[in-house]
Amino acid sequence: MSILHSKAVLGPLILQNHLAMAPMTRSRATDNIPTALMVEYYGQRATAGLIVTEGTSPSPNGLGYPRIPGIFSPAQVEGWKRITDAVHAKGAKMFVQLMHCGRIAHPLNLPTGAHILAPSAVAADGGMYTDAEGMKPHPAPQAMTEADIKTSIAEFAQAAKNAVAAGFDGIELHGANGYLLEQFIRPNTNQRTDGYGGPIEKRARFVLEVAEATIAAIGKDKVGIRLSPFGVFNDMPLYDSMEADYTYLAKRLNTLELLYIHLVDHSPMGAPPVPDTIKATFRKLFKRTLILSGGYDAARAESDLSAGKCDLIAVGRPFLANPDLVTRWKMGAALNAPDMATFYTPGPKGYTDYPALKQY
Ligand SMILES: Cc1cc2nc3c(=O)[nH]c(=O)nc-3n(C[C@H](O)[C@H](O)[C@H](O)COP(=O)(O)O)c2cc1C
Repeated sequence: MSILHSKAVLGPLILQNHLAMAPMTRSRATDNIPTALMVEYYGQRATAGLIVTEGTSPSPNGLGYPRIPGIFSPAQVEGWKRITDAVHAKGAKMFVQLMHCGRIAHPLNLPTGAHILAPSAVAADGGMYTDAEGMKPHPAPQAMTEADIKTSIAEFAQAAKNAVAAGFDGIELHGANGYLLEQFIRPNTNQRTDGYGGPIEKRARFVLEVAEATIAAIGKDKVGIRLSPFGVFNDMPLYDSMEADYTYLAKRLNTLELLYIHLVDHSPMGAPPVPDTIKATFRKLFKRTLILSGGYDAARAESDLSAGKCDLIAVGRPFLANPDLVTRWKMGAALNAPDMATFYTPGPKGYTDYPALKQY
């Protein structure tokens, strides 16, 4: 009997299986507003138990990449409503990933009046693609004032309320992969000397206050968080107290009793290994749902679920390339390969045109 394909419990929700579609930025949201094409894309994949959307900004300041969606304006909420309706009609539950890009941004990607904000004025190595001028180096962000921090927390809380208004079952705070929340956690990007920087108790404060504010806004059963201990994406180097820092976070997030923690492991994409010990630490210290992701195929998903390493498995690239991944995994059918060249390009090519299996 497959655990993967059996119904799963996620807090108050019943999922149609144990498979989540991992959040994936696809840059098809013209003017940062969800489109009809996105309704089709997510609808095609709604045989998953849970869909976590692409990173979606809670603020104009958080729109670092071209054509990523937001969830701060009425038009964005309306756009998302059409998507949650299509997904719910096919039985999947859906969470929106709240991603504030912080320093991973370029002014050419931001609307007029928006600012690139981060804990400290430390520019990321490397560059950012812009539609107007191609690749550009990352500029130095503005260090957030305490007033900016308060505003940002309020934006997350409002985005959480907007998510519920748009029909989402909950939100996932993007605390992984080098974006704003992780920029506060990590010492290379957080060089503050006030109450939000220094020892981990202070570096974790912004993340915990965002979690508390969103829980206060929509309830602890609707708030999850994604974290990437030992992740190095977006110029976030390894450092000595990584394991201790994330152990602290696991304990504090457990106290908040939020719905789930979703751990990222990008070693299958060429990143350094994520030690099994840190995953086991989260499993031990965090009493609610644990989601693991990164490089899963059906056999490994089944084996980690049956070993009790986690409660749900999230899958990225195989879902991107196979709208009917659930059926293919059930049948042991061959998979379409993802086409990296069209990951972030506008239009349906490489987005909604991956073929499903022929009907028998
Ligand atoms: C095109 C693409 C876009 C991604 N965008 C996001 C994102 O917006 N938020 C996020 O947390 N992770 C993002 N990821 C990472 C995936 O969620 C996932 O962790 C990664 O693909 C590894 O899982 P996989 O081996 O199943 O693909 C992205 C990955 C890909 C391939």
